[in-house]
Amino acid sequence: MNYRHAYHAGNFADVVKHAVLTRLLDYLKQKDKAFRVIDTHAGIGRYDLSSVEAQKTGEWLGGIGRLVGADLDAKVAGLLAPYLEAVRAVNPEGGVKNYPGSPLIARHLLRKQDRLTAIELHPQDAERLKAVFAGDFQTRMIELDGWLALGAHLPPKEKRGLVLVDPPFEEEG
Ligand SMILES: C[S@@+](CC[C@H](N)C(=O)[O-])C[C@H]1O[C@@H](n2cnc3c(N)ncnc32)[C@H](O)[C@@H]1O
Repeated sequence: MNYRHAYHAGNFADVVKHAVLTRLLDYLKQKDKAFRVIDTHAGIGRYDLSSVEAQKTGEWLGGIGRLVGADLDAKVAGLLAPYLEAVRAVNPEGGVKNYPGSPLIARHLLRKQDRLTAIELHPQDAERLKAVFAGDFQTRMIELDGWLALGAHLPPKEKRGLVLVDPPFEEEG
């Protein structure tokens, strides 16, 4: 496993993926009934955009760096509101110093009845993700192969939900 998402967090692909994720969660929230999000390749949850990794590629500048502060028309601003709120939540002092990964974005949008299962295989990343969700009873962090763990967690007991499968595409097939 060579891929480290810290080099790519907040890039244009993350923005598209995470904006779509928030739209789907917003849709699930139209019903009161609880749902579960299963994130099979969760990463570390929160990314420091001033880190050596993020600064090395600068990819976030062409993604979230362009979007924050952009002059959006009202319809686009409305659609992106849940996503941009999740980004703001990890930047309480304004600007974009931090970027939320998919499990943190999903967690931000959960209601008290909803649950998140976040799976990450890389031991260091899993450790960091565990620390992000320490003490959070709505989130379960699992250090396992996401492909294998997924089968064991379906169907979720809530019988409603969303599975995000976001592998690094390092392995053929
Ligand atoms: C593209 S990144 C995930 C980014 C994250 N979903 C987000 O949007 O913030 C892929 C992650 O999958 C992890 N990974 C690689 N192979 C895995 C596997 N078989 N099971 C679970 N995680 C894996 C990597 O360590 C990396 O953190």
